[in-house]
Amino acid sequence: AASTRTWPYPRVVAHRGGGRLAPENTLAGMQEAHARRVGGVEFDVMLAADGIPILMHDTQLGRTVPGVGDVGAFASTDLARMDAGGWFDPRFQGEPVPSLEDIVQWLRRHGMWMNIEIKPMPGHDVDTGHVVGQMVQDLYAGAVDPAGLPLFSSFSAKALGAAREAAPGIPRGLLVEEVPPDWQARLGALDCVSLHCRHDLLDAGMARRIKAAGYGLMCYTVNDPARARELFSWGVDALCTDRYDLIGADFR
Ligand code: G3P
Ligand code: MG
Repeated sequence: AASTRTWPYPRVVAHRGGGRLAPENTLAGMQEAHARRVGGVEFDVMLAADGIPILMHDTQLGRTVPGVGDVGAFASTDLARMDAGGWFDPRFQGEPVPSLEDIVQWLRRHGMWMNIEIKPMPGHDVDTGHVVGQMVQDLYAGAVDPAGLPLFSSFSAKALGAAREAAPGIPRGLLVEEVPPDWQARLGALDCVSLHCRHDLLDAGMARRIKAAGYGLMCYTVNDPARARELFSWGVDALCTDRYDLIGADFR
């Protein structure tokens, strides 16, 4: 039979790199996922004040990095001197806010796949998508294995559109919470290969329709192995998890 495989990527993906085992969106998080033989990581990217893309989930300092104010008001060189690990555990104190470029190169060297979530600061959808797209397109110029390419995702259609323009060769997935009624039109408009949705708002029928339309389907954030098994039985292709220690080798 002809292959209908729409997901050439790993099926278990570490959420924010570190999940619940190491500080999110840091090199230490990626190292933990690698040490535990996870095939791929998801992480969040936004622009620092100097226009350099960096790894960060929140738009404000305070939760994972001590300080106050918009993350995008600080230069990447300042962020690199801040502590993105101490909040998680003292043994990670001094872990820097990494640049996208450093993390992509490290993951690539270690054979790990990546889902790069473009998470713009408010009002920066287009420039973030553009800069991230251009950087990844350049880093992967001449790459031959399509399964080794990163996958962009974003809740922002504008950011995905800008990434598409700057990086036509890098695939895209649309991030949503609940799958919207017009999901197929929205995937088509951005020429996406996949849909990424909250697992607790998905049902088996919707999963079947998305797969029947030929799209990849990734769910977040799945931390229970029994639920993981159920989602895979519905045809879900991949899971983003904080618990790659629990959702382990039997699923990969
Ligand atoms: O890509 C799945 C997930 O990362 C989306 O939610 O808030 O953790 O970035 P969030
Ligand atoms: Mg994310």
